[in-house]
Formats: sequence, structure tokens, C-alpha cells
Amino acid sequence: MNSDIKEVLVSEEEINETIQRLGKQLTEEYKGKNPLFVCILRGAAMFMMDLVKSLDFKMEYDFMDVSSYGGENTVTTGDVRIIKDLDTSVRDRDVVIVEDIIDTGYTLDRLVELFESRHAKSIKLVSFLDKPARRIKHVKVDYIGVEIPDEFVVGYGMDYDEHYRNLPYVGVLKPEVYSTK
Ligand code: PRP
Ligand code: MN
Ligand code: MG
Repeated sequence: MNSDIKEVLVSEEEINETIQRLGKQLTEEYKGKNPLFVCILRGAAMFMMDLVKSLDFKMEYDFMDVSSYGGENTVTTGDVRIIKDLDTSVRDRDVVIVEDIIDTGYTLDRLVELFESRHAKSIKLVSFLDKPARRIKHVKVDYIGVEIPDEFVVGYGMDYDEHYRNLPYVGVLKPEVYSTK
């Protein structure tokens, strides 16, 4: 295990089980609808790639980059900026927004509003992790992988100051990793 990690919250095995369960649920709902899966960079990239491999039906995917946290900050500002927009039109499409984590809810709330204004046919949300303790915007997440306590997590796509995204599990950082920065 990486020496900066205090504790593993979601193991590789639990990640795989979660992907299979979500894949089944999404297949029931979206088979035959040619949905557009939207990956929110960069955190959701690893989850998204595993998730789409578990789907056995016709679909498309695209990427969008938004940001709310700045630099080393571990708290959101509530300001969600579009850094890279979709290349695909969402008009009349069944859209599935894929996130790695929902924390305050600002990011997903803003994206739902945006895709509504672009006349998506339907919009549903899937998030690998849910941290309900920190919610400010009460957005409905249709598919949730794992609910976690109020701890700053890294790995499986999630970063602290852009590091640790490549860890194949979700872990909690040791406090000294923050304090020495
Ligand atoms: C993180 C995370 C979610 C969002 C969740 O992304 O990946 O996208 O914050 O927080 P919220 O519910 O409070 O909006 P971040 O902005 O850090 O960008 P990144 O994915 O590139 O790390
Ligand atoms: Mn993100
Ligand atoms: Mg981040």
C-alpha cells in the first residue's frame, strides 16, 4: 500500500463488485436507448472507463472538464467553471452524468441545470462515491456506488493536489501529508 495512505476505504475487490452491480442496473434502464454517458474530468475518468466496460448495449460517451476546487484546497468554493465542454449535443438525448464523488453537490447541481437548458431528453446521475455529510445542494443521485464518511479520500481517480489519482483503491490520506505541504 502507498505509504501516504492511512486506511483503505474501498478495496479493488469492492470496486469491482460495485461496478458490476451498477452495470446491471444501468443495463436494465438504458438498453435500447442509446444513452450519452458524460464523464466529468478528471476525477471520474477511471470509474467511467471501468463502468462502460460493464455495459453491454449501444451507447456513446463524451468528456467534460469542470472545476470547483482550486489547487491544494480541499474545500469547494461553490463556483463551478467549465474548462472543457462536450463535443456532443445533449439535445433529445438520454444523458447519464458520471462522477467519482458527490460532496457538496454543487458540481452535479450545476451540470443538471446546464443539460436541462440544452434540452436533454432525460438526465440521470451516477456517482461512484457519496459523501452525504457535506451536502449543500440536495441533488438526487440516481445510482450510487458506495457511501463514505466525511473524510478526504484519494485514489481511483481522486486527487490531493493532483496526486494519488492512479491508486487502484480509495484511501484516506495520513494527516501528516497535509501538514508538511
Ligand atoms: C471533485 C470531484 C467531483 C467534485 C465533487 O472534482 O471529482 O467532481 O469535486 O464535489 P462537489 O459535490 O462539492 O461539487 P474537482 O473539482 O476536485 O476536479 P477533479 O475531478 O479534476 O479533481
Ligand atoms: Mn471531479
Ligand atoms: Mg480534485
